[in-house]
Amino acid sequence: MNNALVIGGTRFIGRHLVEDLLDNDYDVTIFNRGNHDNPFSDDPRVQHIQGDRKDDEALRTAKLTVEPDAVFDCVAYHPGDVVSAVDTFTDVDAYVYISSGAAYGTEEIPKREGVAQLCDCSDEQAQSDSDESYGPRKAEGDRVVFEAASRGINAMSIRPCIVYGPDDYTERLDYWIDRVLNYDRVLVPGDGTNLWHRAYVEDVASAMRIIAEEGEAGEAYNVGDQRLVTLREMVELVADVAGTDVEVVTAGERELAAADLSPTDFILYREYPHVLSTGKLAALGWESTPVEEAMRRSVESHRESERDGAEWDPGREAEERVLSILDTL
Ligand SMILES: NC(=O)c1ccc[n+]([C@@H]2O[C@H](COP(=O)([O-])OP(=O)(O)OC[C@H]3O[C@@H](n4cnc5c(N)ncnc54)[C@H](OP(=O)(O)O)[C@@H]3O)[C@@H](O)[C@H]2O)c1
Repeated sequence: MNNALVIGGTRFIGRHLVEDLLDNDYDVTIFNRGNHDNPFSDDPRVQHIQGDRKDDEALRTAKLTVEPDAVFDCVAYHPGDVVSAVDTFTDVDAYVYISSGAAYGTEEIPKREGVAQLCDCSDEQAQSDSDESYGPRKAEGDRVVFEAASRGINAMSIRPCIVYGPDDYTERLDYWIDRVLNYDRVLVPGDGTNLWHRAYVEDVASAMRIIAEEGEAGEAYNVGDQRLVTLREMVELVADVAGTDVEVVTAGERELAAADLSPTDFILYREYPHVLSTGKLAALGWESTPVEEAMRRSVESHRESERDGAEWDPGREAEERVLSILDTL
């Protein structure tokens, strides 16, 4: 297997996937609309086909042009997208659909493939673009993959938790890095032990390749850091790799409410722990980057970028109010 077609490929996960595939001697073609800058435009190893994945004819043309062994689908946000893809790439050695940890519909620790239930998806949700229907749509895409595999198509799925690292346009981790780099005291909601599993982007990329090479049709594989850190530990780790000192100050619901804040105003906070089991993926020979190294590369990339996570900022003034209330206690 050495000829890969990446649907997407120019922003974050797909971009790192292309780099991983090149490092592993694949011929790579990316398929996208050309709306975002192509970081590989000067790299003769990466071919580009312009097209919209919503256009079945364009997908078919890409298939006939590239004749890929492996197809990596970074842009399937609706179950219908997965239906089109499995119907187009019927005879490839591997079709890997990026699902999500959000596809799980129950809260249990950890969430295991084939054990934790997936979200249901109504017809209305399947067509929707709302945030609330994201998990249901991803779960329905997984069911399309399973059904396709039962018809002999080599389709598999990967379920990443929150992905972080260089080029992360969601800027979720950037909010926290920005706080650490600019303030001595960082306010963390809850008691600091809050746990929302995260996956380093280069590990998601290598997982996608390994699943294509070693995975089984009809199977889904979770991906996330093998060692998890709590929200407090994450902030301390950022400070550590950035070579700075911060005081982490935790604030519960009542203290935050005094400044009209709530824990969920803080990005990467989730009340109930979200933890994905990664044993099934590790059994294929995958390993995650040590969290210290993953964070070091994330902070380095943050410093070189203009990302500041400002859109997630709950308001420093309100935070200062909470900090001064806590000082008086
Ligand atoms: N970030 C996370 O925490 C996380 C967690 C779990 C799952 N996921 C999943 O990861 C995937 C997103 O990955 P990414 O954005 O980082 O991937 P990416 O492949 O690096 O970037 C998205 C690409 O899709 C292209 N694209 C968008 N709409 C398209 C269309 N209609 N037809 C063809 N190309 C299209 C974009 O380019 P053009 O705009 O130029 O077409 C861009 O190249 C999604 O499936 C998401 O659900 C993400």
